[in-house]
Amino acid sequence: MTVPPIGVAVIGAGYWGPNLVRNFQNNGGFQLRWLCDLDESRARRVVGPYSTVRVTTELAEVLADPEVGAVAVATPAGTHLPVALAALQAGKHVVVEKPLAATYAEGLELVSEADRRGLTLMCDHTFCYTPVVTRIRELLHHGEVGELQYVDSVRINLGLVQRDIDVVWDLAPHDLSILDHVLPPHVRPVSVSAVGTDPIGAGRSCIAYLTLTLSNGAIAHVHVNWLSPIKVRTTIIGGSRRTLVWDDVNPMLRLSVFDRGVDIATKDKLDEQERRDLLISYRSGDMIAPALGEREALAAMVEEFGRAIRTGTPALTDGRAGLRVLAILEAASQSLDKGGLTIPLPETVTG
Ligand SMILES: NC(=O)c1ccc[n+]([C@@H]2O[C@H](COP(=O)([O-])OP(=O)(O)OC[C@H]3O[C@@H](n4cnc5c(N)ncnc54)[C@H](O)[C@@H]3O)[C@@H](O)[C@H]2O)c1
Repeated sequence: MTVPPIGVAVIGAGYWGPNLVRNFQNNGGFQLRWLCDLDESRARRVVGPYSTVRVTTELAEVLADPEVGAVAVATPAGTHLPVALAALQAGKHVVVEKPLAATYAEGLELVSEADRRGLTLMCDHTFCYTPVVTRIRELLHHGEVGELQYVDSVRINLGLVQRDIDVVWDLAPHDLSILDHVLPPHVRPVSVSAVGTDPIGAGRSCIAYLTLTLSNGAIAHVHVNWLSPIKVRTTIIGGSRRTLVWDDVNPMLRLSVFDRGVDIATKDKLDEQERRDLLISYRSGDMIAPALGEREALAAMVEEFGRAIRTGTPALTDGRAGLRVLAILEAASQSLDKGGLTIPLPETVTG
């Protein structure tokens, strides 16, 4: 039996919205019915002159269409709450661009509303759908890496200095959503401290360093910077068995799995001299570069949205994942304001 496609509307036709439009149009499980933007001409340009996709500036018109079962929100973060909430209240399943909302409290409102109505609420943490992150998650979840020891994530380049948000809210959502996605189930962040600086007088941090303590005692460090003349997108994930190095600007060798590291001898009783001489041993085994698929991340995200709606089960990056990222971002902002004070994270993140 063929399953009828889910009617979908995309709200927001700016920089990111057209990518959603293209991917919904390419997915047989959806039928794109509307593109809505406050700027009608922008939306019309995106769908083209011969499209059957309807264009409107009125969200209410979209939500009144009974054939629309799902809504994708690609408007600025400050508008996610009113747009997504209206869609949920109209009984539509919703996927919201990252970040889920502008604040934790707003994100919570969306999660509660979706729960109350039994609707799918998903957050598009796009990186989580890349083949490389999928592989990293498998390696961590299946024990290949061993016990997680540290994460070191660097995301720096000459970036667009944003007017309304600092570098933490601009860039760190990527690192934090990836971390949330790949961490093994028994490991969660328990606290965060952040320091930042604004050497150009932009009025907000342009460089920041976040340090998260994880529930198994491991440490995760995130370095974000708008002022670096070179682009670095490197994440190192160290474990007791393997160390992963993900270099996202090197498509020839995006992911390397190293059987190299430092071990400590586990003799029960060591005297002082033995301790000095024997404890450290270096492992220098092979490096393996796993084959990675080529699928566009957004195509996989759209597929996952359809799966979640059809099965009534949470999406891999559901509203709660969006909420966990918001909780860390808010705690990081608090820490920045307090000169790097360690801020404990709420139960939603640690639980
Ligand atoms: N997943 C990713 O990797 C990724 C990448 C870029 C942006 N984003 C996210 O996508 C969202 C949009 O970002 P962007 O860069 O496309 O912004 P943008 O400013 O380029 O576009 C936003 C569009 O939304 C429209 N809009 C604003 N309020 C509206 C409303 N109430 N109803 C209908 N249309 C409205 C604007 O007219 C504009 O065309 C943000 O949440 C951003 O964080 C995600």
